[in-house]
Amino acid sequence: MTSATAWTADANEALSLSLVRAPEDKASLWSREVYEGFHPTFTYPIFGEEEKIYGYKDLSVQLKFASGSLAQHLTVRYSERLPSSSAVDEIEPTLSKFLAPDHLTDEKEFLERVEHDATHFKPYGEKIYSYTRAATTLPKGKNISIPQVLGPDDEETVDFEVYHSTWKTPGFREYHRRMQLFVLLYIEGGSLISEDEETWEFAVLYEKRRRRSSPDVFTYHFVGYSTLYPFYCFPERVRLRISQFLILPPYQQDGHGSALYTAIYQHVLAHPRIAELTVEDPAEAFEDLRDRNDLKMLLANEKFMREGFGPEAISSNGGKVGGVGNGRKARGGKARSIRAGAGKMGPPAERSWLEKWRTDLKIAGRQFHRLVEMLILRNMD
Ligand code: ACO
Repeated sequence: MTSATAWTADANEALSLSLVRAPEDKASLWSREVYEGFHPTFTYPIFGEEEKIYGYKDLSVQLKFASGSLAQHLTVRYSERLPSSSAVDEIEPTLSKFLAPDHLTDEKEFLERVEHDATHFKPYGEKIYSYTRAATTLPKGKNISIPQVLGPDDEETVDFEVYHSTWKTPGFREYHRRMQLFVLLYIEGGSLISEDEETWEFAVLYEKRRRRSSPDVFTYHFVGYSTLYPFYCFPERVRLRISQFLILPPYQQDGHGSALYTAIYQHVLAHPRIAELTVEDPAEAFEDLRDRNDLKMLLANEKFMREGFGPEAISSNGGKVGGVGNGRKARGGKARSIRAGAGKMGPPAERSWLEKWRTDLKIAGRQFHRLVEMLILRNMD
């Protein structure tokens, strides 16, 4: 007799993802293990609400991506399989519906593509941001084995670059079809965006490495991305909304999410056509990331902090504020004495002061008032 559980696999465990690099590029990495065999957080959009796969023993579903072009290759392995008449889940046909139309079925062809990528793959679109990290900062992604320490001939720094693109960017539409599966696997409630909506914009983050054998050649490896949607904003601008935002597990918890968010925010600041940056239905982890980065930005803005929270800031009730002792609490626990604390309920002069900063900084209203509240509380401690 066979029990159903013996033939049932947890889909999140059975499915593992890899970002495959050419052999030479692996050598200069933290370790190849870091980029291989990480798991999805969600598989319910593919395998159903229970996230289970029925009908196999020792099941392993490996979905490999070329680390640059994201060319895909799927391998399904198991030691035993129930006969097809027993309601067995058909893995390849199910998963293939979610793969890019150009996914590769031949492993040799896939590995050739990885090799080709190493010298030929270049990001799509326009570079909008870059930063450099010490190579000795080891990735701390979740569920990942600890990588080995760098070898003596490894690079000391690693560059990261963010590229902006639209559907009109040549080749990007096909590229997006290879990356969009990550949204289903990592964003709760995530769904695929429509290619018919012409106005989508994208920010894609890459790790950039110099090849050892040919130092003039750089290799690019996908790290994460965000989809952005511009909404009309009266009278002639747009409000740019972050719709989907993700950093792949090997790179999480290492500041790359913050860097991608900063890149998008800088892009918003630099473009007069964009009135403000908003976020669609943020997950808690993203809200946290956004708050931390927005607060850091405000705290670094000397003029804003001096005018709103410094010694010369004038309270809505006429007192000189800014010192800890002046952080009086009004009814409901809200501090009013700090100038910025006047918020929406302050006199017109305070309101317009706050609104001027908000529009200059291009932060959405609700978020800006939350940030101001946080700064008030911080000043009161
Ligand atoms: N070294 C070590 N730790 C660091 C460093 C660093 N240099 N920089 C930041 N950190 C810490 C931060 O302090 C933070 O810690 P905390 O969680 O204790 O507050 C943590 O790392 C996360 O910050 P980042 O590293 O900047 O963010 P990360 O790259 O991990 O990205 C994100 C966060 C986007 C939520 C990522 O985990 C992810 O993609 N998750 C899955 C998908 C998802 O949930 N996306 C958001 C959905 S909402 C939406 O799409 C609008």
